[in-house]
Amino acid sequence: MKALVLAGGTGSRLRPITHTGAKQLVPVANKPIIFYGLEAIAAAGITEVGIVVGETAAEVMAAIGDGATFGLRVTYIAQDAPNGLAHCVLIARDFLGDDDFVMWLGDNLLEGGLGDLVPEFGQEQRRLTGAPAAMILLKKVEDPTQFGVAELDPEGHVVRLVEKPADPPSDLALVGVYLFDRRIHEAAAAIEPSGRGELEITDAIQWLIDQGQPVVAAEHRGWWLDTGKKDPLLEANRVLLERIEPRNDGTVDDASRIEGRVVIEAGAVIERSTVRGPVVIGAGCRITDSFIGPFTAIGPNCEVAETEVDHSVILEGSRLLQAGRLVDSLLGREACVTRHGRSGATRLTLGDHSTVDLG
Ligand code: DAU
Repeated sequence: MKALVLAGGTGSRLRPITHTGAKQLVPVANKPIIFYGLEAIAAAGITEVGIVVGETAAEVMAAIGDGATFGLRVTYIAQDAPNGLAHCVLIARDFLGDDDFVMWLGDNLLEGGLGDLVPEFGQEQRRLTGAPAAMILLKKVEDPTQFGVAELDPEGHVVRLVEKPADPPSDLALVGVYLFDRRIHEAAAAIEPSGRGELEITDAIQWLIDQGQPVVAAEHRGWWLDTGKKDPLLEANRVLLERIEPRNDGTVDDASRIEGRVVIEAGAVIERSTVRGPVVIGAGCRITDSFIGPFTAIGPNCEVAETEVDHSVILEGSRLLQAGRLVDSLLGREACVTRHGRSGATRLTLGDHSTVDLG
């Protein structure tokens, strides 16, 4: 069993946050989203991983390297344009050979990682008849129009899959983790680009169904987050911060209060402030006369002065100076927010190097 992790694409929906960077590297609880996927793959006992990279290849490769820190052997596969998830399968043909593989979308986060899916797929494969060509994961969602959607028959068999339907046949979304055997290669080669000009993996799996190949579905029981957009990213941050192990490697003065689940990284300084967990404060941050948390991740080397921040993700090198109260905010690297007067709450999505003066 190998793994194919998709880290290409343009990240346009998180712009301006990912205008200059890979959306898979946006940190959640101060750790890049894609690291959670790589850890889940390693935990399932898989070591050979192909990572599809696009225009942000250099950044992704710098962050992951050869994969040794995850216990993985990584092969990078360059995609010259984001031509779709099934296109990723096509260009990974040499790497994948005839092996079974897990395909993991680099911006997806799943509670429990792969769980027992890999042995389950193997068991189904070993049966003499009806070995599935694909196993998909489904999750009930409120707005299925944003996802691939599955229609099941009363016995729970997959009868139809549609990508981002205007009129969804069910509320069961396709989670961005799939298991395939080699039959997917023929399917990916057989389909045509969709209305949005991409070779859709959803269409490739539908092609397998049309050919009478067995496709099995499992309902994902834990939480699942597709972090391509701001609100799910803040939600992922909230969920993962609840699991951090408290630690203080920084400096906290006597006038400050640290409450609950808080990680303070090395070199961070906290003065005359309250930090109410769950919160992560990155290395080298300087927090003065402020209230941080709950559910907030502050990246390395940020400066926060006379500001309240909760339910937010602040990327590295940002400065919040007398910024009032920030809630539900996502700030890119080296963003700067200052405020001279005092008015109510502030909600922001800021890209790298933004500056906002709230007057
Ligand atoms: O998140 C689950 C959804 O993911 C499924 O429900 C949909 O059926 C599936 O098509 C996919 O939809 P998205 O529109 O959310 O996919 P997105 O374009 O965000 O791409 C998913 C990941 O794959 C992302 O990390 C970028 C990467 N990617 C994407 C494309 C189109 C590539 O590496 N190459 C590509 O060509």
